[in-house]
Amino acid sequence: MIPGPTNLNQKVLKSLSLPLLSHTDPQFYQLLDHIQNGIRYLFQTKNSYTFAITGSATIAMETAICNLLKPGQTLLSLVHGYWGNRVASMGQRMGFNTHVIRNEKFGQNFTLIQIENALRRYRPNLMYVCHGDSSLGCVQNLHGIGQLCHRYDCLLIVDAVVSLCTTPLAMDQLEIDVVFSGCQKALSGPPGIALISFSDKATEVIKSRSKTYPVSSFYMDINLVAKAWGLDNNDVHTYHYTPAINLLYGLRASIREIINEDLANVIARHQKAKHYLEKRIQNVGLKLLVQESDNRLAGITSVLIPDDIDGNRVIQFMYKKHDILIGGSLLATDPKVPKFWRIGYLGVNADLEKIDRTIESLQEAIQKQRNKFKAHL
Ligand code: GLV
Repeated sequence: MIPGPTNLNQKVLKSLSLPLLSHTDPQFYQLLDHIQNGIRYLFQTKNSYTFAITGSATIAMETAICNLLKPGQTLLSLVHGYWGNRVASMGQRMGFNTHVIRNEKFGQNFTLIQIENALRRYRPNLMYVCHGDSSLGCVQNLHGIGQLCHRYDCLLIVDAVVSLCTTPLAMDQLEIDVVFSGCQKALSGPPGIALISFSDKATEVIKSRSKTYPVSSFYMDINLVAKAWGLDNNDVHTYHYTPAINLLYGLRASIREIINEDLANVIARHQKAKHYLEKRIQNVGLKLLVQESDNRLAGITSVLIPDDIDGNRVIQFMYKKHDILIGGSLLATDPKVPKFWRIGYLGVNADLEKIDRTIESLQEAIQKQRNKFKAHL
């Protein structure tokens, strides 16, 4: 019950040991087609430039930035928690003008007014926002942000690593230029494979720079990725790098599971699990980190650690005694951030019975510490 990687779906696990195909085999090209259409379904898009990239979701984050910005251009990152800072660090390392805006209150949404002020002030070419921030367990309302960015001639990247399949996300309708995600969260698939899609506007930028300003990374150059996927050259696939073929089997199997259950039902299952878990947490006297219910993410919930409790010892107890692992904080070194646990219920773990067992074991671990303390008085 961590924020990912999550438990694998059994069919996905089996698919990982299918016999290897050559990456030049026509059957492999068919696998790419299935995956591409599957990602389009998950992201609710018709975008042609839609791919799976070998690497964690961090590579998709880096891919979006290095393909869409040219030297001298500007990146704006909206920071809720951990991930916006990572994007800003990438922008700085790549030498782009990089700016951030932060929210004062944990998990609060950025308003359209705040975003417009920042767009006016910094005039970015590219803006990043995290739809579901796993580090805090909060969700950003995306309505109107794409349109606003386009009014300021700025492209929009949305990080959907945790929001995919846990929260509604319609890429085309929301006018998002890049969406990326990973396979190891609500898809209950293997880590090591990232999903990414580019709008026509973003694709134009990428294509137009191929000769004048080639992307500085060979591996992440989407012009080369597109050629490997048989786009732009009458289905001729050009060698780029050897993909993680078994992980692609895993991704296809994960997508099939979502299609069989239906995307809307998968999202509804995560939303139901969120409300159930939040209620159970509050009923046992614990408090949630994110105050407004609408800003709380489905799939990961942050629970404040009571002052008299050692949070790490609780995690160890639950794991040793009940084989249940919950997550700690990615922001633990920041003294301004309160101490909290992160309970993940992604993919196959978005299950009420698993949530019950988790809360019961959490309660037992807390009680045990309190009893021990009393015995020493
Ligand atoms: C990783 O995505 C995490 O939130 O721990």
